[in-house]
Amino acid sequence: KRVAVLISGGGSNMVALAESMKGDHPARPVLVLANSADAGGLDKARGLGIEADHVDHRPFKGDRAAFEDVLHDRLMQARPDILCLAGFMRVLTEGFVSRWQGRMLNIHPSLLPKYRGLHTHARAIEAGDREHGCTVHEVTPALDDGPILGQARVPIQPGDTAETLAAKVLEQEHRLYPACLRRFAAGDRSRVDL
Ligand code: GRF
Repeated sequence: KRVAVLISGGGSNMVALAESMKGDHPARPVLVLANSADAGGLDKARGLGIEADHVDHRPFKGDRAAFEDVLHDRLMQARPDILCLAGFMRVLTEGFVSRWQGRMLNIHPSLLPKYRGLHTHARAIEAGDREHGCTVHEVTPALDDGPILGQARVPIQPGDTAETLAAKVLEQEHRLYPACLRRFAAGDRSRVDL
C-alpha cells in the first residue's frame, strides 16, 4: 500500500511511521505533504529519501475547500492508497474527508472519546485524571471522532506538567501509530492497545 503523510510541524510521528515501514511492511511512504514550507518535518522526510512538498494554506484565507482541492490534486500525483494525518493542524472539511474516508487515519494525543480538540494534556491534568494517552482513529467529518484503531496509555504522575506529559504521550504515539498502520494496511481491523 502507498502511504502519504500530512504534517504541519516537526513530523516526529511521520519519522516514526517512515522508520517502521522499512523491510516487509505492508505499507510504504511515497509522499510527505505539509501545509507550510517551513514545516521541520519536510527536511526530515527528504533526509529519509521520501518525496516532500507543501501546499501553503494561507493564500486561500478562509476558503478551506479551495485549499483542499489543491492539496487533493497534489496528493493524487503520488497515487496514495492511505492518508496518515500526523501532527496535521488544519481542520478538514466534510468534502475532503468524504473523498478519503475509510483510507485516512489520524493520531490524537488523548484517550478518545475524552479530550477532543486542543490542549489535551493540560485538560487531563486539570481534571485530575490518573492516566492519559493517545489514539489512532479513522478520520470522519466530525473532529477527532471515527472508529478507533488503537490506544496507548501513560500514567499521570504527581508533578507532571502539560509539557512532561506531552513528551511521555509523544513517545507512545511513535509506538502506536506504526503498529496501527501496519494492521490497517494489511486489512487487519483488530485493535492495538499498548
Ligand atoms: C504532537 O502534539 C502530537 O501529540 C500530535 O501532533 C503534535 C506534533 O506531532 N499528534 P509531530 O511531532 O509533528 O508528529
